[in-house]
Amino acid sequence: MDCTMEQYRSSAQAIRERLGDFTPKAAMVLGSGLGALGDEVENPILIDYRDIPYFKASTAPGHKGRLVFGELEGQKVAVMQGRMHHYEGYSYEEVSYAVRVLRLLGCDTLIVTNAAGCVNTQWKAGELMLITDQIKMFSESPLRGENLPEFGVRFPDASHLYTPRLLELARETAKEQNIPLREGVYFYCYGPQYETPAEIRAVRALGGDAVGMSTAPEVVVASHCGMEVLGLTLLSNMAAGILDQPLSEQEVLDAAAAAKEKFSGLVRACLRKM
Ligand code: HPA
Repeated sequence: MDCTMEQYRSSAQAIRERLGDFTPKAAMVLGSGLGALGDEVENPILIDYRDIPYFKASTAPGHKGRLVFGELEGQKVAVMQGRMHHYEGYSYEEVSYAVRVLRLLGCDTLIVTNAAGCVNTQWKAGELMLITDQIKMFSESPLRGENLPEFGVRFPDASHLYTPRLLELARETAKEQNIPLREGVYFYCYGPQYETPAEIRAVRALGGDAVGMSTAPEVVVASHCGMEVLGLTLLSNMAAGILDQPLSEQEVLDAAAAAKEKFSGLVRACLRKM
């Protein structure tokens, strides 16, 4: 089922009525275990997803399912504490629905964060990665279906989904903050099962450095509607088959908790420079 312009507009209008004259600039999607940054927003206006018409609920663990509007590092932000995933049963269009609503509300930047498996064997779990590009070619596009020209063109260019200016800004920021930052390609797998060792070897052969179950759909949609995008990944675990141990959600959440300060420090410092 296609989401309609009327639905996007009605979601945006319901939020606008709560925001008064506050206009957000930067939308942020906080991934697994990283949602705490949303609690640090100043002068917050909190809106539960379930109180917004046509919004979907976020059922993933560690995802609160609400929007936080306010200021962070001097920027007017709209923080999604919790995202929607395809594995929860949502279509890709539904997964990225909120991004378009935030665009209608005035956001021109999207900062996406996630936890992902580390495919690159030169790297270690616990490190941070700047997403330079993504691969999402084995599942359909969130733009499938009737194109809504209010958002963008039918066949959008995808040469720079992750905005070069923001890549440079993140590199400089990480250097200034002395936070080691890897750079690589995020490979989208739709889950919810973690990948097999054979799949991870395939991902590596195809050029992926990190593997995860989120982010890529929202980024396609954000780029389509003209937003600048910055993506940061916590490499929460070595991907399947690299170490002789099974993967677990607990490992991901523990890694996210351990990296929380470093990760939110980097995001905050990037925001400050935007
Ligand atoms: N695979 C897919 N998604 C993930 C992983 C992983 O290893 N770790 C955290 N999210």
